[in-house]
Amino acid sequence: MRCIHCSFEAELDQSLITCPNCGGLLEIRCDPKIDFAFKSARGRGVWRYSPLIPGKYSRVVSLMEGDTPLIDTSSFGGKFMAKFEGANPTGSFKDRGMSVAVSNALTLGYRAVMAASTGNTAASAAAYAARARMRAFIVLPQGKIAMGKLAQAILYGAYVIEVQGSFDQGLETVMSVHRVEDRIYPLNSFNPWRLEGQKTLAFELVESVGVPDAVIVPVGNAGNIYAIWKGFMELKELGLTDRVPKMIGVQAEGASPIAKAVMKGKDVPEFEEFPETVASAIRIGKPVNWLRAMRAIRESRGTAITVSDHEILQAQREMARKEGVGVEPASAAALAGYMKLLESERLSREDLTVGVFTGNALKDPESMMRVNTNRFTVAPSEVLKLVERELS
Ligand SMILES: Cc1ncc(COP(=O)(O)O)c(C=O)c1O
Ligand SMILES: [Zn+2]
Repeated sequence: MRCIHCSFEAELDQSLITCPNCGGLLEIRCDPKIDFAFKSARGRGVWRYSPLIPGKYSRVVSLMEGDTPLIDTSSFGGKFMAKFEGANPTGSFKDRGMSVAVSNALTLGYRAVMAASTGNTAASAAAYAARARMRAFIVLPQGKIAMGKLAQAILYGAYVIEVQGSFDQGLETVMSVHRVEDRIYPLNSFNPWRLEGQKTLAFELVESVGVPDAVIVPVGNAGNIYAIWKGFMELKELGLTDRVPKMIGVQAEGASPIAKAVMKGKDVPEFEEFPETVASAIRIGKPVNWLRAMRAIRESRGTAITVSDHEILQAQREMARKEGVGVEPASAAALAGYMKLLESERLSREDLTVGVFTGNALKDPESMMRVNTNRFTVAPSEVLKLVERELS
């Protein structure tokens, strides 16, 4: 393990979350001598790749996360595939990382977990904590969470703490609780064990289609794009693949510190105090993993772009109406980004491109109801007439 900010280095220690030296973010480096071959992998989902997940676990807390559908979505004019993370047990990619991080917390003897959330982390942390019989404390920006996600956290029995403030303030609160309260295990993506679960998405892609040319990821706190890149890098370091895809980050215009920095060729993003977008999952102005994400983008020769709320909602409808894949607005940013990159010829139609569709449409019913076309109210006796009129 090593710190990405200072010179701290240590052997693998499952109890470490942040750098004991400077409080910065820790990186878990994979052992280059691991003996792993896809053909001998057993089981399905995240834990199929357990030789590549560091640590020993007294009990694996799993809901069979991962192994999500990779769907051919040819309507968009190129070789584009949708990795549908909305098919995970709580409806988002967060489940991959929660399975590993909550297993770790259980192994270490914790009885309670905590996370700030734009919604999906809340739903996922609450579910995995329930399965591990732990208490979950969830900090949410009041009034800024999609209904489905809030409802999930409530259903799974978490302590739902709504604060008058932004997600970024919620995350700072969780980090400060973590510094003084050692009975609570933090589950935000500054915790590197979560990323160890999330990196398995790369393994699944390689197993099913090989290394794509590009992978497009909606970016909020910027853990996922880094985790996926890390997965590809590890396969390359182990000699199982010979290259890494371009990692492309997409942010909403109103919440885009990383994309703006990348587009301007700056090394350090300018954080945004009042991020705003319809895609509430990625309404984040101060991404905790910005340094990791910018490294993934730079070293993979990828890029980052912004998309407008209008483009996001349009992409959400197109994904649903042309391909039958229902994704939440933040996820639709991946498709909006793809369309933009095709148009500006920064991606070719021939590039095998995978969009990571991070969350399920059901998470955010309001966004689905926005364009309420083809909806009628008639008497039962009028139905036949209506259908015939529409068919003609
Ligand atoms: C649906 C969805 N997409 C994308 C993201 C962004 O992931 P990350 O914060 O790892 O960048 C999130 C994070 O909350 C999310 O819920
Ligand atoms: Zn450090």
